[in-house]
Amino acid sequence: MIVNPLLKDTNNPIRAIVDNLVGKENPKKELISLAQGDPTAYGHLKPPEEAVTAVVRAYLSGNHNGYTASSGSVACRTALAAAHSCPNRPPLSCEDVYVTVGCSEAIEHCIAVLAAPGSNIILPRPGFPLYETLCQRHGVICRFYDLLPEDAWQIDIESIRRVADSRTAAVLINNPSNPCGAVYSREHLKTLIAVAGELQVPLLADEVYAGMTYGTPFVPIAEVAGTVPVFSVGALSKRWLVPGWRVGWLCLHDISGVLKGSGVRNALTKLCQISLGPSTPLQAAIPTILALKDNTWLTNVMDTMSLAAVSSVDRISKINGLSTVSLPQGAMYVLVRVDLVAFADCFTDVCFAEKLLEEESVLVLPGECFRAPGFIRIVTTVPEHVLQVAWDRIESFCSRHFGADEREAICRNSARDGHQADELGLPRVSSCLGGHEGLLLKPPKPYLIPEDEYHGCPHI
Ligand SMILES: Cc1ncc(COP(=O)(O)O)c(C=O)c1O
Repeated sequence: MIVNPLLKDTNNPIRAIVDNLVGKENPKKELISLAQGDPTAYGHLKPPEEAVTAVVRAYLSGNHNGYTASSGSVACRTALAAAHSCPNRPPLSCEDVYVTVGCSEAIEHCIAVLAAPGSNIILPRPGFPLYETLCQRHGVICRFYDLLPEDAWQIDIESIRRVADSRTAAVLINNPSNPCGAVYSREHLKTLIAVAGELQVPLLADEVYAGMTYGTPFVPIAEVAGTVPVFSVGALSKRWLVPGWRVGWLCLHDISGVLKGSGVRNALTKLCQISLGPSTPLQAAIPTILALKDNTWLTNVMDTMSLAAVSSVDRISKINGLSTVSLPQGAMYVLVRVDLVAFADCFTDVCFAEKLLEEESVLVLPGECFRAPGFIRIVTTVPEHVLQVAWDRIESFCSRHFGADEREAICRNSARDGHQADELGLPRVSSCLGGHEGLLLKPPKPYLIPEDEYHGCPHI
């Protein structure tokens, strides 16, 4: 049997690194994961109840058990079009929207459509590794522009110009950003649009963290895109705290009709005809979910994440060898710089993460997963009391290793036989697949309304 050689080269760079970490925690300490980009992992962040009810209602109605249009039901696409239309621009119609299996599939559709042989796509560095995985899978060359750590992780616009050429099919941006937690201002987005206009390339905007900010407000890039075509992708996954629902979308913003006659829309429709999108009852719930007046709910969620970010930044500032270069503004992440010269026994961020896990049972993702060597990524989706215990352990680890030479380090590693862990009652990490990080926290006790509460419930 011959396997498709394109698939042989298809890999998620996170997996190779993270699979090697699984099972290496100190058996004497309860494992705390600060690694997984799944906002539901600890159970304290819950989707709006009305969203869950809308889905249950759609299932119970019995009206959504069949196939629907392959690009998504008209009602679902119309609601998405309304939600993503921008002020002072012609409104989107349902023809501009494609409903997908999570944001991942929306990204894949865009890359597949843009992947003419020999073309390249320019990706952010640091960035979410799935972009590279998908480019590899579709035979697109990856080029990279830099995000500037000292400048709030903004885009180094010149670095886009340096790598773009006549085979550039798109520039991809991720705002708010994974792993940097950056959020771009309107002015910064305008600068980016100017360059895309100059280079005559479309923008692929991964806005899966749209609205998830606690600093700079989020501006959809389509608002300032002028005539530059924007493929904007999003999902319920993060903003609505339901990554397992697998509902995503792609909105095509093309006011001057640059894409007309290119075959892009036809190709997208054909791609949607392969998976047929997310389940029909979930699509049926979208109009209700998007119409929720949920300002208080979202504010509370973002306050919780902001608190986690602020308290992490505060703890980092008191730990020798760690620093935050620019403060996070949104998404669910903090990138922490590790002074690898000072931690002489941790040559790389991977080594730092591995030793931290072995000694303190705290799991973080090495920056190398995101092309951010010398950093580690932590999430802001962990309850405060758990986060504080994690930081106590990281602080203790750093104080043992800061300034250590290798010989000393071997002796100090005896610290891994240390005291019994704080009893946090956390779920353990298993090696099963789960999200792009490839680690799954076994779910804590179910926290949603018990299934039987829905049986025969009169108001549904
Ligand atoms: C930047 C970014 N884009 C896309 C995705 C994938 O989203 P989904 O789970 O909706 O496929 C993720 C998931 O972590 C992400 O961080």
